Amino acid sequence: MAVDSVTFDIRSGAIFGILGPNGSGKTTLIRVLCGLLRPTSGRARVAGVEVTERPDRVKAAICYMSQAFGLYRDLTVDENLRFYGGVYGLDRELDERVAWAKQRMRLGDLGNRLTGVMSGGQKQRLALGCAVLHHPPVLFLDEPTAGVDPGSRRLFWQIIRGLAEEGTTIICTTHYMDEAERFDRIAFLSLGKLTAIGTPPEVRAKFGGDRTLEDIFVMLQEQQP
Ligand SMILES: Nc1ncnc2c1ncn2[C@@H]1O[C@H](COP(=O)(O)OP(=O)(O)OP(=O)(O)O)[C@@H](O)[C@H]1O
Ligand SMILES: [Mg+2]
Repeated sequence: MAVDSVTFDIRSGAIFGILGPNGSGKTTLIRVLCGLLRPTSGRARVAGVEVTERPDRVKAAICYMSQAFGLYRDLTVDENLRFYGGVYGLDRELDERVAWAKQRMRLGDLGNRLTGVMSGGQKQRLALGCAVLHHPPVLFLDEPTAGVDPGSRRLFWQIIRGLAEEGTTIICTTHYMDEAERFDRIAFLSLGKLTAIGTPPEVRAKFGGDRTLEDIFVMLQEQQP
């Protein structure tokens, strides 16, 4: 079974983290919420759109940075941004949005840099810039910081926090529990069921208060059959 009786809601402008072991259904769940996968039962509503009924309508309201986000290595930073802007149908506002994305993603001087030679952290920020170019209210991030160094991860989450403060709702997955500790709310997903949901302190309190999120993660994982 891929995902089962999940249920949760998220207030707008929050950073909501979905945590769970490999294969627990995080990516599948995100693909349902993005209208890319049709669930066999249940309903999902994202940014006021009934995704399960009108998956086509949700696309304008979201951006999705997938686990394998595609940047073109042989294009420059500017060319990648302009390409994705074209895909999103940006026209007159394209120049302004490209400049905005480079500034927000701290890639200001790198417009002519070939993407293939950039560092992992820079590539991740460029991927985020491409994803949020059309500035939708809901942003899905699937393991956005896998393989990124601690300094670049911190910068990445500072940028994300800035977007959230401006009202963007963020739904993300991560295997880094230090990142999860700074999210507004988290949910542990285990074999398609939510085993805990709340703010990080609430979740820790549920398991006695003296365990770290990492301890709780491992404990829940070990309880799986
Ligand atoms: N279309 C599909 N048909 C059948 N099984 C699928 C399908 N998509 C995913 N699965 C299975 O569903 C389970 C959940 O997969 P999913 O990719 O959602 O997990 P995940 O939590 O994102 O894992 P990871 O942390 O490794 O990214 C896995 O066992 C996977 O093999
Ligand atoms: Mg996944």
